[in-house]
Amino acid sequence: MEKRSLNDATATLPPAKAHQAERPQIARVDGKWVVPAISKQQVHEAKRCLKQRGVDEFLEQYLPESPKGSDMLYITALLGFSPSMMSEDVDDDKNLIKVVRTLQRAINRVITTRMRIMSLHTVDQAVDAIAKAQRIIVLTGAGISTSLGIPDFRSSQGIYSLVQDLGLDDPQQVFDMETFSEDPDIFYKVAHMVLPPEDRWTPTHAFVKALSDKGKLLRNYTQNIDNLEAQVGIPKDKYIQCHGSFATATCFTCKRQVEGSKIFPIIRTMQLPVCPRCHSRRRRLLKDSNTVGALGIMKPDITFFGEDLPRVFYDNIDSDVTECDLLICIGTSLKVSPVNGIVNRVSADIPQILINRDDIKHAEFDVSFLGYCDDVVTYLSNRLDWSLDHKDFTKMSQDKFIFDEAESAVGLYRLEKKEEASKPIVNGLSQ
Ligand code: OAD
Repeated sequence: MEKRSLNDATATLPPAKAHQAERPQIARVDGKWVVPAISKQQVHEAKRCLKQRGVDEFLEQYLPESPKGSDMLYITALLGFSPSMMSEDVDDDKNLIKVVRTLQRAINRVITTRMRIMSLHTVDQAVDAIAKAQRIIVLTGAGISTSLGIPDFRSSQGIYSLVQDLGLDDPQQVFDMETFSEDPDIFYKVAHMVLPPEDRWTPTHAFVKALSDKGKLLRNYTQNIDNLEAQVGIPKDKYIQCHGSFATATCFTCKRQVEGSKIFPIIRTMQLPVCPRCHSRRRRLLKDSNTVGALGIMKPDITFFGEDLPRVFYDNIDSDVTECDLLICIGTSLKVSPVNGIVNRVSADIPQILINRDDIKHAEFDVSFLGYCDDVVTYLSNRLDWSLDHKDFTKMSQDKFIFDEAESAVGLYRLEKKEEASKPIVNGLSQ
């Protein structure tokens, strides 16, 4: 497939200093700074100027010769950020460093994230991009399994908030190798919550499978450990479980590997699964010592913090990011590296679509569908005339949705299910 070009990247930028003449005034009203209305196009132009011409020229173009704090506050907003200092006297010298730092953070963010493709921002264009793509990378996270009752990690009801009473300095220690080696109990108090259900998957897993069946899936990079990619039937070479999975488990001490499901019954009772080979040694040592840590304990082959990702990730990622012609991120906060780096490793002219309940501010997608991923993929499948291998698909296909386009950003849509809607309705079947 022909690669899409960033059609506006080569468009002529306004001449230097052009923005100063037309620079609207930021004003202080009742102790609060009021930024004049900034259009999506103005934000895009400012970002493009910064990325293409560099920091010096951007500042020269957008700031007056003797800038005040409020001028910097204004161009921070112009870069698409909402400065937190709107009530402070930013023109006072004592606040200058703070204003400069805020602007610097905005500049760094813009420089390190991709520029969106301006010709790809409508729902129709996103559907078209999926229809045309031949080598899609789908990057998935915990959000695609939450409808099965498996909590995600960082939401208010996620694992990391559920483990607050374990007294850890950082909830991520639950999945930390050092912590496991000292006290595997911590992991096993939580592991039952993330155990995969048997023979169940979500419409979103079925959507990824449909992409594979249609020969469009280059690879599904999943951060999930529930192994549902295998259950839904995606071919093994089409998905990479970047953080391992519950599919197998290995003895911490003798490295004997077993099928993961063998230890599920023990995990469900929150007990420690002991390796049959190391069992007597562990018992012997425990007689003389209060704790022997993870000695002789089976650990699911999940990649803990402090462990390297599976070899298969590194074997494929370099060529996949070069080959892919569309990136779709679904149900992930993109907080964990190196997987979250994929969005910046894919060439900037390759379309990127986000399907997530919450917006992701630290990456730049062309089209973002904010809502429940099962709803979004059902809608998209209907638009594409696809049927998903999921028991609820036919019923879900009858749902009607409202798309609300955000005023603040290009290509950002909130999708909500609605029975009786007063706003324009997009029916998954009729579009
Ligand atoms: P997070 O919990 O960080 O993010 C899940 C994202 O999914 C959030 O942005 C939610 O808004 C979104 N979400 C939740 N339910 C959704 C739904 N029904 N539809 C759409 N979006 C939904 O989970 P991950 O990004 O997967 O590591 O976290 C990455 C890694 O961090 C995990 O692999 C895990 C954790 O530490 C290990 O297990 C080793």
